[in-house]
Amino acid sequence: MSEKQKIRLLFVCLGNICRSPLAEIVVKDVATRRGLHHYHIESAGTGDWHVGGPADPRSASKAKEKGLDLSRHRAQQITAHNCHKWDWLIAMDADNRRNLLLMGVPESRILMMRQFENPVNIPDVPDPYYGGAHGFEDAYLMLVGNAEALLDHLESQREDSNPRR
Ligand code: 4NP
Repeated sequence: MSEKQKIRLLFVCLGNICRSPLAEIVVKDVATRRGLHHYHIESAGTGDWHVGGPADPRSASKAKEKGLDLSRHRAQQITAHNCHKWDWLIAMDADNRRNLLLMGVPESRILMMRQFENPVNIPDVPDPYYGGAHGFEDAYLMLVGNAEALLDHLESQREDSNPRR
């Protein structure tokens, strides 16, 4: 499948250095293991502070500990100008979702990373930036724990209605 035909996913957090880069590689890894090669997966932040910079060292070392590689990550920002480039935007927390809506992203394209855990009262993937190292392990576990359900959902959407099928 050509890159152009792929379904474009964007994991979104605030800085694009802690949570969403980890989400990107965790879900890429699960998709690869499942043989789902029709997803193009990226991540971005709603803020611009870290654009062009690497992942937070605590996220990079958590990734390494789990056998994943974040060393090539470079942060990017999602804005009102580029937000139409992706088919699905997966927000880490409710603030990220609000910011996407303010940019003009249609609600129908936004998913929450933890929406499959509790669809009625959707939990956040809390921002670990100002906390201790345990926050990164917690975030990793939340991401791994939701990756399969997220991909199941995307696959079901694809079977239902995606014109790129
Ligand atoms: P992230 O964490 O949104 O998971 O990448 C943060 C990283 C940086 C900042 C905030 C959150 N910051 O304020 O610079």
